[in-house]
Amino acid sequence: MSPVDLRKTPEGQILSLFPSGTSLNESNELLLGGCSASELVATFGTPALIIDESALRDRARRYQDALRSRWPNSEVIWASKSLPLTSVFRVLGEEGLGIDVAGGGELVMALAAGINPSKIVMHGNAKTDEEIEMAVKAGVGTIVVDNFDDIDRLERFVQNEQAVLVRIIPGILPDTHLANATGQNDSKFGLSIDDAKVAIARLKASNKLRLDGLHLHLGSQIMSTEPFIQSLQAIASLGEFSVYDLGGGLGVRYTYADSPPTIEEYLDALIGAARKYLPASAKIMIEPGRSMVADTAVTLYRVVTIKRSTRTFVAIDGGMADNLEVSLYGQRFEATVATRVGGGELYSLVGRHCESGDILIDGVKLVDPKIGEIIAVPVTGAYCLTMANNYNGARRPPVVFCKDGVARAVVRRETYDDLLARDVT
Ligand SMILES: Cc1ncc(COP(=O)(O)O)c(C=O)c1O
Repeated sequence: MSPVDLRKTPEGQILSLFPSGTSLNESNELLLGGCSASELVATFGTPALIIDESALRDRARRYQDALRSRWPNSEVIWASKSLPLTSVFRVLGEEGLGIDVAGGGELVMALAAGINPSKIVMHGNAKTDEEIEMAVKAGVGTIVVDNFDDIDRLERFVQNEQAVLVRIIPGILPDTHLANATGQNDSKFGLSIDDAKVAIARLKASNKLRLDGLHLHLGSQIMSTEPFIQSLQAIASLGEFSVYDLGGGLGVRYTYADSPPTIEEYLDALIGAARKYLPASAKIMIEPGRSMVADTAVTLYRVVTIKRSTRTFVAIDGGMADNLEVSLYGQRFEATVATRVGGGELYSLVGRHCESGDILIDGVKLVDPKIGEIIAVPVTGAYCLTMANNYNGARRPPVVFCKDGVARAVVRRETYDDLLARDVT
């Protein structure tokens, strides 16, 4: 079947959510980065997070090309909280992206991956002494001041000079889940415009802290361009700076019904607003996380049991221990049986954890799922592994890179021994 035919079929519909390198073999089975789902599962078990390495690299290039062509003095900084894995830091670092870290842990991973510290931007609304000291000693390029205590701490730890940005609350509530909104007036992140004026004055007077400019971040999974435009208007009154870091937040297509702006549409809007409100000589940085990685990865599960009651429950061997997006943000996903790709009857795809809320997808169309078969859930690259946990003693899944038909584990599955490893007896 040609790709054009595929798009109109149920197979094509679900495939449109998978990484760009996904295809089907003759027996209608998923090939992820050229690797068959059943071979991946036979080698690495389930649940497993499968990343299409080419899709990840392509995404980094697309973001950089799109930003550079609209605003040459610019840099794409990947928000590493979206998929904090040393191997992903390494791949995106190789592609030339800067890296946003929030806290010491992400900083350690970035450095371990060989990221040049000057390409790192450090965030955090509660950076400790230890973390500020680590960042300063490592030579982190930019530290984002979130509060006045950050300034005190930086003054204590910086010896020579440190470039900083001030995080501004633009006072804009984007249309997203409240837990994902960060730009509204009562946000715990950043400083109000009035407080920012005080911080800016203090920083300008500092002989150790070099104020390069402003930072803002509206939130995550934002499905329209309007809030981004408004946010630039909101900060324009603070004066002219040489750097503006405009955060991340672009929404992602998780379901057939979602239609977020494309990267190009988002940047048309953002850079259009920058031309209107920011100095032409300024450097512009953006910090995509979700839209960099979400649809480059897929989670593979196996069906453990099927129960027919008021509805038909298909219970898999994972759930809220490897995907908290559903419970935390009500995020809707789609899924398919990996060896019979396409739509079918409606099922409740549920997890194995001891909460009634552990329903991965309520009402998903699957073709006759059977015990032991593989269920593939696309668009699980962002914030799923980030928030993976050991609920019910779950062992966190392995992560596998697939490229040109070759699969390699970059993180192994946790073992039962790992679960006991931190016990002090
Ligand atoms: C400061 C900052 N920048 C960028 C991001 C990335 O956002 P997203 O993953 O929605 O692109 C986040 C995530 O919350 C963030 O806190």
